Amino acid sequence: MTSPVRLALLGCGTVGSDVVRLLHEQSVDLAARIGAPLEIAGIAVRRVGRDRGDLPVDPALFTTDPLGLIKRDDVDVVVEMVGGIEPARSWLVEALRAGKSVVTANKALLAEDGATLHDAAAEGGADLYYEASVAGAIPLLRPLRESLHGDRINRVTGIVNGTTNFILSAMDATGAGFAEALEEATELGYAEADPTADVEGFDAAAKAAILASLAFHTRVTAADVHREGITEVTAADVASAKAMGCTIKLLCIAARGTDGRGETVSVRVHPAMIPLSHPLASVGDAFNAVFVEAEAAGQLMFYGRGAGGAPTASAVLGDVVAVARNRLAGVHAASESAYADLAVRPMGEALTRYHISLDVADRPGVLAAVAGVFARHDVSIATVRQGPAGGGPAGRGDDADLVVVTHVAPDAALAATVGELRGLDIVRSVASVLRVEGGA
Ligand code: NDP
Ligand code: HSE
Repeated sequence: MTSPVRLALLGCGTVGSDVVRLLHEQSVDLAARIGAPLEIAGIAVRRVGRDRGDLPVDPALFTTDPLGLIKRDDVDVVVEMVGGIEPARSWLVEALRAGKSVVTANKALLAEDGATLHDAAAEGGADLYYEASVAGAIPLLRPLRESLHGDRINRVTGIVNGTTNFILSAMDATGAGFAEALEEATELGYAEADPTADVEGFDAAAKAAILASLAFHTRVTAADVHREGITEVTAADVASAKAMGCTIKLLCIAARGTDGRGETVSVRVHPAMIPLSHPLASVGDAFNAVFVEAEAAGQLMFYGRGAGGAPTASAVLGDVVAVARNRLAGVHAASESAYADLAVRPMGEALTRYHISLDVADRPGVLAAVAGVFARHDVSIATVRQGPAGGGPAGRGDDADLVVVTHVAPDAALAATVGELRGLDIVRSVASVLRVEGGA
């Protein structure tokens, strides 16, 4: 058999340790599929002395010198499972410029500065693969960057963060509030000790940038993505969604559009109400799913485990096999496709729909005054539902609950409508504002 393809593994935590385990358990099959055995040249970690259980690997392979490992002549492929922007970016640029292909799970880095990595890959004639960076085990980036390259993608809508999907699913199932559901997610090991990146939408925004870049052949960074997390979603919002036959999900939405400048894209992450009939509504627990709408292919749905050691390691190893095969064949994959270079529209111009719950004075003329605000901002109302305040038959005397669902309008017009409603005397409070997606 051909001489081995030698791997430098950077990181041996949740993902890295499962990659090591699977490399060991599947070594014979992997070698047969590639046409050469895979060998671990070294494993860079922060703490060599850390207890790693019964990991099937020679302890002498561990090092705290990632750069030294990458530069070794006997390293062919670098597999990065550390995370963060620096020093990971410097390591990967070093590897790629030296012609060593890279497999990475690092969504934060790709979304922040993927261009630098793609440029280094082109310069060094090396492969840059990152299937594990979005939606864990789900084969999604390869379909976008290869299988769908003959088609035109119009929209990508996804649930790409497992932690927040677990929390929202728990709130929906039990009526729990956000804090209680987060506590359960932490106890079960879904949420990290510091859950900010997940619950504030940073993780999903990074993934949205990667998906939009691939779908629209345009460089989109995390800074281009409008981001809202789920910390403001209340049990009352969830109950209100249920009353409308909907559920609330943290969605990433990347959509093609046109305006005076020609074709544009908008990319956003925020909680939204979707009807129970929508394919994403039944995606529960910590699962991920991505719904792709393409011109010729129509609607496609990708579903599976978006996080966890073994599922993510599966995606990493798929990439390792691909780059190892390319190396043996003396080829590398086509470089990044960013030829379309579409303008990224600001959130204010994105077309959305709102579900607005108001606590209003219950007297003549109130409905007309509220409707007037919508009309002034050129926002069309789809439905209005009024009931006694507090929901019960007795209500709260002079107040009423008013729930307005709009038709599609520019987000800035909807936000301005809500702003003006807040200032009306007859509006006691704006109880909740949620975007609506998927025809609810
Ligand atoms: P962990 O925190 O579990 O592991 C990180 C690893 O990196 C550890 O082995 C750590 O060493 C090592 N490390 C940290 N800093 C350094 C450094 N300066 N030099 C050398 N080694 C270092 O992270 P995960 O395995 O969870 O995540 C890894 C990557 O995969 C991240 O980019 C993450 O976003 C991505 N990812 C993770 C998923 C998941 O479900 N966990 C899913 C999809 C993607 P030591 O062991 O000594 O502490
Ligand atoms: N924290 C992420 C999630 C891990 O909950 O989805 C996978 O990227």
